[in-house]
Amino acid sequence: MKKNILYAQSGGVTPVINATACGVIEAGRANLDRIGKVYAGKDGIIGILKEELIDTSKETKASISALRHTPGGAFGSCRYKLKSIEESKREYERLIEVLRAHNIGYFLYNGGGDSSDTAHKVSQIGKKLGFPVQCIGVPKTIDNDLPITDNCPGFGSVAKYIAVSIMEASLDVESMASSSTKVFVLEVMGRHAGWIAAASGLVAREEGDPPHIILFPEVPFKQREFLKKVKASVEKFGYCSIVVSEGVRNSKGKFLADAGTRDAFGHAQLGGVAPVVANLVREKLGYKYHWAVSDYLQRSARHLASRVDVEQAYAVGEAAVRFALAGKTGVMPVIKRVSESPYRWKIEEAQLSRMANREKMMPKRYIAADGMGITAAARRYLAPLIRGEDYPPYDRDGLPKYVKMKKVLAQKKLPEFDI
Ligand code: F6P
Repeated sequence: MKKNILYAQSGGVTPVINATACGVIEAGRANLDRIGKVYAGKDGIIGILKEELIDTSKETKASISALRHTPGGAFGSCRYKLKSIEESKREYERLIEVLRAHNIGYFLYNGGGDSSDTAHKVSQIGKKLGFPVQCIGVPKTIDNDLPITDNCPGFGSVAKYIAVSIMEASLDVESMASSSTKVFVLEVMGRHAGWIAAASGLVAREEGDPPHIILFPEVPFKQREFLKKVKASVEKFGYCSIVVSEGVRNSKGKFLADAGTRDAFGHAQLGGVAPVVANLVREKLGYKYHWAVSDYLQRSARHLASRVDVEQAYAVGEAAVRFALAGKTGVMPVIKRVSESPYRWKIEEAQLSRMANREKMMPKRYIAADGMGITAAARRYLAPLIRGEDYPPYDRDGLPKYVKMKKVLAQKKLPEFDI
């Protein structure tokens, strides 16, 4: 009997995670001689535990194809921590029970570092419980902080949105700076890694170009140097554009903005550093300011996706199915940069055990000597990742044509499970 695929989305979504889902499902459909169905966990692993498996064969070809240009997580995602096999034994056993009940031969888990860890554990426990399921991790994270892979699907599009946004907002500020706003602060995501903030630096091609200051989580915030540079930029260029990463910390290692809440993985919920920085500028320098928190706008801005990113997101989904059919398990398709100019990439294979729970920060050589900008090496790394456009189709009302899944669930076969 042909085995089924179970695909699940995990953690924070990206503008292109559905392009990966599209790659998985289309590759599954292209191999129906060897694969039964492609199921998707409703709201990620939570749906799997609850035996809520979406039967993607109920979706039309056109709907699946439209996933490629639709943001959000079409099947639902979640932050749900499976701990060690000993601590979360009940949940791991339930997972295997669900996989067994639905004849799942391949578990494809689309997430970041935490999800690689879970996928790795599922592959171990399956073997232990006599139900060896092939587990393939599928990379995604806007934070771009996974090890081994050259970059992460989702990052390039957020990087492009942030670069374009700071470019446009700075034109606005510059035009009225002589009599009005002199400082603009844009807050970006990225958690502990400054990749997204760094991407804004691509806009600064000549002296005076924005952003004039980038604040990275990798560089402890030094108030005096920062204010000095704000003042110098306003005096020299008439205004100052600042990009600040949500994960910036002071010299004592404390986040400048920590909402005080924690997610299921124990991560601090960040956000709100832009007003902190802007207020500091007004208090100490007296400049009029505006600030913006790009928050979920950056994570969902599919209308401004990078073409390279969309292509890579699709390719890792397709490759995950290819790996599964080749009998692989405990691996993840990753992106390898083959050449920089012209930019060329290919998909390779990495062991999940090497991906799990490791964050890749910006290396020192990518951060300018004063800690508030990017170097030429960073520019060479980042530039190809935001190249090309991949606009969604628009309807007559001028809105993008995004798709919604029907989410028809497979018939349940097991007793209820409390999570
Ligand atoms: O990990 C991706 C990410 O978007 C981070 O950049 C951000 O800090 C976090 O997720 C926000 O998570 P949530 O949407 O669960 O609050």
